[in-house]
Amino acid sequence: MGGTVAAVIALRAGRAADEAAIREVHQDAFGPVEGPVVADLALALLHDPSARPLTSLVACRAAELIGHVLFTRVRIEGQTSGQTSGPARSTVASILAPLAVRPGLQRQGIGSRLVRRGLAVLAAEGCGLVFVLGHPGFYPRFGFRPAAERGFLAPYPIAPEQAEAWMVLALCDGVVGAVAGSVVCADCLRQPQHWSP
Ligand SMILES: CC(C)(COP(=O)(O)OP(=O)(O)OC[C@H]1O[C@@H](n2cnc3c(N)ncnc32)[C@H](O)[C@@H]1OP(=O)(O)O)[C@@H](O)C(=O)NCCC(=O)NCCS
Repeated sequence: MGGTVAAVIALRAGRAADEAAIREVHQDAFGPVEGPVVADLALALLHDPSARPLTSLVACRAAELIGHVLFTRVRIEGQTSGQTSGPARSTVASILAPLAVRPGLQRQGIGSRLVRRGLAVLAAEGCGLVFVLGHPGFYPRFGFRPAAERGFLAPYPIAPEQAEAWMVLALCDGVVGAVAGSVVCADCLRQPQHWSP
């Protein structure tokens, strides 16, 4: 779907000069209530040293920024096969948050392209696990699966009826099952208001 629009959309790394447009995209996509909170979070993460290294990608139609995705570093505090971990600590992991596409341009494949490009960048950098708290109808198409049943605790408790929104994707073999524990994210994301899907 959206072949004509998709053909003129370019993806690239986000830059400091994009920040105002990144804020706008999240505000518009998430609406008047959630939008300002998510936009503030996106900008705060871009400046949070504890979120680094991060992968920030934007989608552009000519000079107009129409989509943004951010992946920031998390660490896993936990256990490996029942012992205090070495591998859990050394597993490189990220979290996808937030993701937005301008309302008039949604459902044309742009969000999926941003996610897939971001996952490719992370895989090339040796990232083993990617987490997301998001729509269970959207993220499984990229390979995300429920994370709690694979042994990964979210930074804040997720209500049982929303458990499927907390997901993990393995970018390399042998990590899921070998590593488990509590996911510790960047300081500005580790706030309860960001943990109800
Ligand atoms: C979610 C979002 C980023 C997807 O981007 P997009 O460019 O519209 O997505 P794509 O065109 O690549 O994929 C479209 C798919 O996303 C699904 N989708 C879009 N919004 C969705 C939502 N709120 N809940 C569940 N699925 C959703 C559509 O059902 C569609 O699936 P289909 O192809 O099976 O019909 C975009 O809709 C958006 O910005 N939404 C508002 C902000 C938001 O909810 N962000 C994500 C938080 S987890």
